[in-house]
Amino acid sequence: MSQRTLVLLKPDTVRRGLVGEVLGRFESKGLSIVALEFRTIDGETADQHYAEHVERDFYPPLRAFVTSGPLVAVVLEGDEAIEVVRALNGATDGRKALPGTIRGDLSLSNRENLVHGSDSPESADREIKIWFPDLP
Ligand code: RTP
Ligand code: MG
Repeated sequence: MSQRTLVLLKPDTVRRGLVGEVLGRFESKGLSIVALEFRTIDGETADQHYAEHVERDFYPPLRAFVTSGPLVAVVLEGDEAIEVVRALNGATDGRKALPGTIRGDLSLSNRENLVHGSDSPESADREIKIWFPDLP
């Protein structure tokens, strides 16, 4: 079943010069880019995107991190795209993520873990509307 998912290449990906490497993994897998934007977000947009986490202890440093510089927002499309992207991303904590995944190969942090991927069809719909409100 073809799906769309919202992916963020977070500010650490841009700062470390890994945009090509990370985007290339999604493209090599066979997922299609249907929208892409390079932008810096404000705190309010971060709060909208991470609505489920705003009350958590880890949210203030996460908010500071995702607003700390430009990131790349992407909508990817393909068969089972939501689960496929989560599998390519690997576990949240880069120190525990398996080798072969983006986080497992390239991140040593639980916060600066390079990528975001929507976790369900409902999240994907909600997040795509936040980031790309005009996408048909
Ligand atoms: P994401 O939403 O970014 O794709 O990551 P995820 O589903 O694997 O993880 P989630 O639980 O949704 O957490 C969102 C982001 O918050 C940061 N985080 N820090 N204990 C902590 O310090 C902590 N836990 C989560 C990470 O940047 C994570 O990606
Ligand atoms: Mg999440």
